[in-house]
Amino acid sequence: MAPTNFSARFRSRLLRAAGLSAIVAPTLLAACADKVTVFGPGEDDDATSTSSGGASGPTSSSSGGDGGHGGSPTTVVTVTNTTGVTTGGGAPPTQVLCWEIDGPCPSLQAAPNALGPCGPDFNYWIDSWIDGPFSGPNGACCYEVEAYAGCGVGRPYLEHDAPVVASLVASPDWPGALGEAPSELSENLRAALAEAWAHDAAHEHASVASFARVALELMALGAPPELIAAAHRAARDEVEHARLCYALASRFRGEAVGPGPLPLGDSVPLTTSLAAMAAATVAEGCIGETLAVAVARAQLEAATDPEVRAALATIVEDESRHAELAWSTVAWAIRTGGDEVRRAVEEAFAHAEHRRLEVVTTAAPALSAYGRLSAEAAEAVQRQTLAEVILPCASSLLREQPRRARIAPAARA
Ligand SMILES: [Fe+2]
Ligand SMILES: [Fe+2]
Repeated sequence: MAPTNFSARFRSRLLRAAGLSAIVAPTLLAACADKVTVFGPGEDDDATSTSSGGASGPTSSSSGGDGGHGGSPTTVVTVTNTTGVTTGGGAPPTQVLCWEIDGPCPSLQAAPNALGPCGPDFNYWIDSWIDGPFSGPNGACCYEVEAYAGCGVGRPYLEHDAPVVASLVASPDWPGALGEAPSELSENLRAALAEAWAHDAAHEHASVASFARVALELMALGAPPELIAAAHRAARDEVEHARLCYALASRFRGEAVGPGPLPLGDSVPLTTSLAAMAAATVAEGCIGETLAVAVARAQLEAATDPEVRAALATIVEDESRHAELAWSTVAWAIRTGGDEVRRAVEEAFAHAEHRRLEVVTTAAPALSAYGRLSAEAAEAVQRQTLAEVILPCASSLLREQPRRARIAPAARA
């Protein structure tokens, strides 16, 4: 699959924000599952070729169709040892996860679509389904799976690697005046939309706390003012994203809803090691928020409902700046902390290909007009963004010496 113009533009934007050149070195590879992207010497940032096929050991292949720069055919791709980014990282841990659901347990074949890709509490990314279903406590449906920790939307607020979100309560404060629910949709589909947007709203709401914590951590680590200012602005953006999503949830539900108290406990733990902060920023920002931009953009492209489109247009633009902030933050951390930080960042990117956002998807095509993607579309856009944006940028970040971070002027407002 040829890289999209969006991927190329987004990649350039992130590289600029990180103070990196848009030109990457020869034989620099970014492998993502069965896809490999190669950047040749002297090519500009749009000049990429992609190929399908195994990424282990030297191979070469070619594919037809448009690809590469200026619509020329996709060129031969040669795969040598990956440099810059270490992919893989071994098999994920095996565990048993259980869901309490109405009705019979989905078969092992049906479970990924019916229950995945996140665990029952949205705190795992399920890589593969091994066995099940088994009967669990209270009649729960249990499956043996291989799963990684972490499955959030945008920048999660994590405690002990699990996302913290507020519960949904009746509240007129967040959504404002209720819009009219679409009469052409059945009650069931409106309920599904309400649930999906309420889920997104809760994670947007938690992102406010996440950026508040990021701002404190940056200060504790002596970060430059543009990063601290951008983190505060991002927190304000997330308040607006939460408000927009709660407004959509309320509209489809026919009742004003918002967040209850965010269960933060008595203290907020901070990461004050530069290497650990950089690694967390890779996972939550460079990967998580970069994926969030691509998913939101795909939702926007599919949506036709004016209110949904307006909300997603705001989210796409703001999340693009949040992704820039993450890449600039990691670049600053590498410049400041040297090899120790670089190693931590490399290790964090090693798990990139296994990370996905938890996206509430739908099997009802009618709901794409209201911003909900199918599971296949959500997976495709994330895989493409990993291969065409995240891993190439990670390679540059790890190979170059980043210059001073360049935050978009708007982020200084
Ligand atoms: Fe957001
Ligand atoms: Fe964000």
